[in-house]
Amino acid sequence: MPKFLGVEWVDIFSSIERKKTYFGVVYHFFLTYPLGLIVMILPFFLLFTFQWHILAIYACWYLYDRNSPKRGGYASEWVRRWRVNDWFAQYFPIKLHKTAELSPDHNYLVGCHPHGIIAMAAWANFATNGTGIYEKFPSIRWNLCTLAWMFKVAIRRELLLLTGLIDCSRESIEYVLDKSGEKGRAVVLVIGGAEEALDAHPGYHVLTLASRKGFVREALLTGAHLVPVYSFGENDVFEQVDNPVGSKLRNFQDWSKLKGGITYPIFHGRGFLQKAFGYLPFRKPIDTVIGAPITVEKVENPTKEQIDELHSIYCQKLTELFEEHKGRFGVEKDVKLVLK
Ligand SMILES: *[C@@H]1O[C@H](CO)[C@@H](O)[C@H](O)[C@H]1NC(C)=O
Repeated sequence: MPKFLGVEWVDIFSSIERKKTYFGVVYHFFLTYPLGLIVMILPFFLLFTFQWHILAIYACWYLYDRNSPKRGGYASEWVRRWRVNDWFAQYFPIKLHKTAELSPDHNYLVGCHPHGIIAMAAWANFATNGTGIYEKFPSIRWNLCTLAWMFKVAIRRELLLLTGLIDCSRESIEYVLDKSGEKGRAVVLVIGGAEEALDAHPGYHVLTLASRKGFVREALLTGAHLVPVYSFGENDVFEQVDNPVGSKLRNFQDWSKLKGGITYPIFHGRGFLQKAFGYLPFRKPIDTVIGAPITVEKVENPTKEQIDELHSIYCQKLTELFEEHKGRFGVEKDVKLVLK
């Protein structure tokens, strides 16, 4: 790595393979942040350049298509197989480790942990073929869930839908796992959500799970088998400003979560040209282990006891998965998984 002024810089003489992976992560960055801004400005640009008919056509499509995120979306194998997705996964690299078969005779509700700052592993593994999901589970169709407002942003919404993303509401999950009448479908939820992002510090294994039981209820209602997934390294690809529970920063973050539903982890990664500061993730490996499915019987009206029981089985299986594989992926023996 070339060093200058005490900072590590991007090596412009690196191999073309390495440059491609860099391009993969820049593409993901573009999709995550600037694209949203661009499409907000675009309508004004079109208006002032008198291209309003393009706007009108898009508005018709937008109205026509508004329910797709709740109706299973429209995943395109072609988009999911874009080479840029492979480069993104190879950057870290992210790898998917399979421990059990998933039979195409059932549906699955997959819990992805931890959320990290922006759930890199969930995207690479389940929204793209970047880690080879088509080869590892050829008969399963995957849908990654995200927040409903993501589908309000023009153009980016279509890109997300083509990548197989759907709305994370109950209606949407029940549609795919039950009402569609299909089998071999898997809905992937990053259960800890934004709250868990506040605990995304390198070396931390802290999950927001003890109080999150909605997904268990959905599994019971739809009879979808539960699959625990843990990504070692997800919390290592960004640095976050210390925010222990009880600190001023954490109190503010909890307050804004309560008021606006949004949490703001104060984080940074590397930059485009230097490795000291920026919002691209660090090049550190992420290993995603997908556990064995937990059998679930469909229940019309699940009781609190049934939900609690299945929830504790899920937590136990996830903890076992963590314990079984942590040694392989650089977690010290005495580090335990914390469920809050
Ligand atoms: C999916 O990815 C794997 C591993 O990267 C690759 O071998 C395979 O050809 C890809 N499958 C499709 C259908 O593109």
